[in-house]
Amino acid sequence: MAFEPRYPIETKRLRLRPFNRGDVDAVFAYRKREDVARHLFDGPMTHQTATEVVGLRAGQFTLAAEGDKMFLAVDLADPHAMIGEVSLIWRDAVSRQGEIGYIFNPLHHGHGYATEATRVLLGLGFEDLGLHRIYARCAAANTASWHVMERLGMRREAHFREHAFFKGGWDEELVYAILEDEWRAMQPG
Ligand SMILES: CC(C)(COP(=O)(O)OP(=O)(O)OC[C@H]1O[C@@H](n2cnc3c(N)ncnc32)[C@H](O)[C@@H]1OP(=O)(O)O)[C@@H](O)C(=O)NCCC(=O)NCCS
Repeated sequence: MAFEPRYPIETKRLRLRPFNRGDVDAVFAYRKREDVARHLFDGPMTHQTATEVVGLRAGQFTLAAEGDKMFLAVDLADPHAMIGEVSLIWRDAVSRQGEIGYIFNPLHHGHGYATEATRVLLGLGFEDLGLHRIYARCAAANTASWHVMERLGMRREAHFREHAFFKGGWDEELVYAILEDEWRAMQPG
């Protein structure tokens, strides 16, 4: 049976919901930027690519089988604006492993929104999907990204030195993770 959270999911300042075709311009506004794409697999997007990606993501809000990807649009509640996206990938059903990711519009960096939105995914993954371990990967040079992971209580598990040639140079990759027990120990009450 597919795992489908009840949408929207509300936090103190944000709403997480499935993508819809009305998100194209907001997504293009940040995915066209070189500074946003620097550490992502994709390069800066054209409007056409952003349209295709949003069309694909509009159908990716449930997890039914290993390998499925959930992408959620993140709205700032006040003033209302679509400010970024978070993702949860069901990597392994037998070993109950998941991977999270996040991309936010630089106009809305520096307020803790990425941390607040991604924390929701840890709750969904452990509480609702029954995952045992959730990990995230980023370039070692992507300080803002691994700071999010550390704010979420994830541990640095690996630093892969020059493990791949990426965008014209050797890539350094960090892996962070958190186990279900560690996450439960952090919950209030
Ligand atoms: C990775 C990314 C999402 C991090 O964004 P961010 O704004 O730094 O992260 P947060 O939203 O959690 O905000 C944290 C910052 O807000 C500050 N902040 C302000 N109010 C806060 C609050 N109420 N709660 C938490 N943090 C708050 C924190 O101190 C921190 O500032 P600092 O970086 O100066 O220490 C962003 O850099 C990005 O989108 N990058 C491009 C895409 C990308 O590389 N994604 C990751 C691929 S692995």
